[in-house]
Amino acid sequence: MRPRILVLYYSQTGQLRRILDSIVSDIKDKADIEYACIEPVTPFPFPWTPLKFFDAMPETVVHTPSPVKPLAAEVTGKNYDLIIFGYQPWFLNPSQPVTAFLQAEFANIFKGKPVITVIGCRNMWLHSQEKVKAYLAGLDAQLVGNIVLADTNPNLVSTLTVIRWAFKGQKEASGLLPAAGVQDEDIAAANRFGKTIYQHFVDDNLFDLQRSLLAQGAIALKPGLVILEQRGIKNFRFWGKYILAKGGPGDPARAGRVKMFQNLLTVAIFILSPISNLTALIKLAIKRNSLLKDVEYFRQLDYQEGRL
Ligand SMILES: Cc1cc2nc3c(=O)[nH]c(=O)nc-3n(C[C@H](O)[C@H](O)[C@H](O)COP(=O)(O)O)c2cc1C
Repeated sequence: MRPRILVLYYSQTGQLRRILDSIVSDIKDKADIEYACIEPVTPFPFPWTPLKFFDAMPETVVHTPSPVKPLAAEVTGKNYDLIIFGYQPWFLNPSQPVTAFLQAEFANIFKGKPVITVIGCRNMWLHSQEKVKAYLAGLDAQLVGNIVLADTNPNLVSTLTVIRWAFKGQKEASGLLPAAGVQDEDIAAANRFGKTIYQHFVDDNLFDLQRSLLAQGAIALKPGLVILEQRGIKNFRFWGKYILAKGGPGDPARAGRVKMFQNLLTVAIFILSPISNLTALIKLAIKRNSLLKDVEYFRQLDYQEGRL
């Protein structure tokens, strides 16, 4: 049977679209594949100004996103066998357009469907995926796979290149810094996942797909990331509420607090991070076994509230 696959995604720079194109590239002649792109009513700027970028944090973290356009009737009217759902984290949560989509009436398209999430990110995606798992469960969707493509450069390097990309629009390598984003060769090699997805579909065992995807390297996850995300999300929640107390998106009354958050994050990343890496290493040594259990949990698909 020819699977009817919907590839549903948001992508600001086009990176995620490239990843998704690569995943389905080798199964195009065996499956009916349609794309639907999530579009914000008012697009987010690219490149971003620092103020707009950091001003997007509170609504992203508390899940009160700017609205997106409805899905086209020709998409909502069809019955798909499988949905490949591509999204990216913003501030450790699903990006605003993705959250807006998941909260909207047309997210009903997920109801009763097997869903494979595909994440294209810098390297911090755990908390976002927990949120997406919860939304999908609430929509009666069945999460059957998760594929994560992240920038494999060291944390500080990927932070610098993502900043250059977001604020200058420059993805290409320059000076000592490599290109920003997910490595081209990793995007090209993502075609291997499409064949596996197809095979599990025709064999009618999508329930066992994640095991095969993991065997193909769909998720590379270091235990230290769990600690970094635990810390990050606590701070974002605090600062999100603090900024929101002064007004909504773009309100000049909150610009001072947004700037404070921007400065603090810069200090945390570039000055405190060597110290905090050291404390994370100590924590890693002390709590190694429980962190390894966490890693196992985050590589799988089940959802347990409050894991992060
Ligand atoms: C506002 C904003 C916040 C981001 N926050 C994160 C994050 O928390 N974790 C992460 O791994 N990447 C983060 N990124 C990188 C994105 O997940 C993504 O890889 C990048 O924006 C390119 O995606 P796209 O062009 O497909 O939309 C962020 C990007 C933006 C624009």
